[in-house]
Amino acid sequence: MIKRDAENKPKKIVTPVSPFSENDPTVAKLEVTLRPKKLSEYIGQKEAKKNLIVFIEATKKRKEPLEHILIHSPAGLGKTTLANIIANEIGVNIKTTSGPVLEKQGDLAALLTNLQEGDVLFIDEIHRLRPAVEEILYSAMEDFALDLMLGKGPSAKTMRLTLPKFTLIGATTKISMLSSPLRDRFGHNFKLNFYTVDEIKQIILRSAKILGCKVNDDAAEKLAKCSRQTPRIANRLLRRIRDFADYEGKTEVTYSLVESSLMALGVDALGLDETDRNLIRVVIEKFRGGPVGLNTLSAATSEEEATIEEVYEPFLMQLGFLERTPRGRIATENAYNHLGIKCLRTNENQTLSL
Ligand SMILES: Nc1ncnc2c1ncn2[C@@H]1O[C@H](COP(=O)(O)OP(=O)(O)OP(=O)(O)O)[C@@H](O)[C@H]1O
Ligand SMILES: [Mg+2]
Repeated sequence: MIKRDAENKPKKIVTPVSPFSENDPTVAKLEVTLRPKKLSEYIGQKEAKKNLIVFIEATKKRKEPLEHILIHSPAGLGKTTLANIIANEIGVNIKTTSGPVLEKQGDLAALLTNLQEGDVLFIDEIHRLRPAVEEILYSAMEDFALDLMLGKGPSAKTMRLTLPKFTLIGATTKISMLSSPLRDRFGHNFKLNFYTVDEIKQIILRSAKILGCKVNDDAAEKLAKCSRQTPRIANRLLRRIRDFADYEGKTEVTYSLVESSLMALGVDALGLDETDRNLIRVVIEKFRGGPVGLNTLSAATSEEEATIEEVYEPFLMQLGFLERTPRGRIATENAYNHLGIKCLRTNENQTLSL
């Protein structure tokens, strides 16, 4: 069903602009360099990895394509990386596209008809597929067939094209926005979790090695604690700290260099940056700790709703700083404490700041 706004107009699809995504081509290239290529190099996510090894080996033995896979997690936790690893481990080609890019049925049909037997089709941001495009995906996923409508009106005919057996890997940051017919057609559903400090530390040390940058152990640990439990942020901060090291002519990244660089970047001990702090400050100071609706919060902070929801909130909720309730967002006592604002609770469980 097409989402509609209050005036019953189709709702505009907004792609969240993540400050953590890498749009600069040279930076994007660096990200690809740091991307693990094999499951054994993919750190953490033990549960998902353990099951994937079984499914991959079983399908390899049966010489059948892997069933369709859905991967969901907040931004930067390794969905795209995992999709590429899966194709690599099975030894097949991967074709990559994303939900908002597929504007017409023909765009998807062209991709599907160009697949080879066993190939992986990776659709990123699959929750942003247009309904008409999603519709032709159903028979493609279930029957490996493409139902095309030729012509219009009473003379219109349907034509069924047989497709090669392929594996669809869908990635999403918002599983709740997936329609149930689409969700039900995936044979596997993997949720990636935030990483532990130790796992992030391993990722930092691995990336530092690839970048040829010496990072001592307590520096890596400090950096890991400030990386929002997210590999992409760990790698981004590592690259920034490498800049500081090169600028200062240092051959090794030390604890004190990490500390001073993070301070210069405005990243605090929990890894929150100015935008995160501003978001909770606005909830506390302008809305007395909430509840405040997403659209009001978006207007008050000048951040896109989708960016707040998909980029900033997941980690703030993981920290227990923000709660999502049916009445809106609420800042918790932990958030008050972090910003050094005194929190008074009233009878209605509302919070007041001093
Ligand atoms: N498990 C992991 N081990 C090592 N490095 C990882 C792991 N997961 C992610 N990374 C690193 O983090 C970067 C970001 O990961 P990736 O692009 O796969 O995230 P994503 O979940 O697809 O993000 P988005 O939701 O923004 O598309 C990758 O370039 C990779 O270097
Ligand atoms: Mg991705």
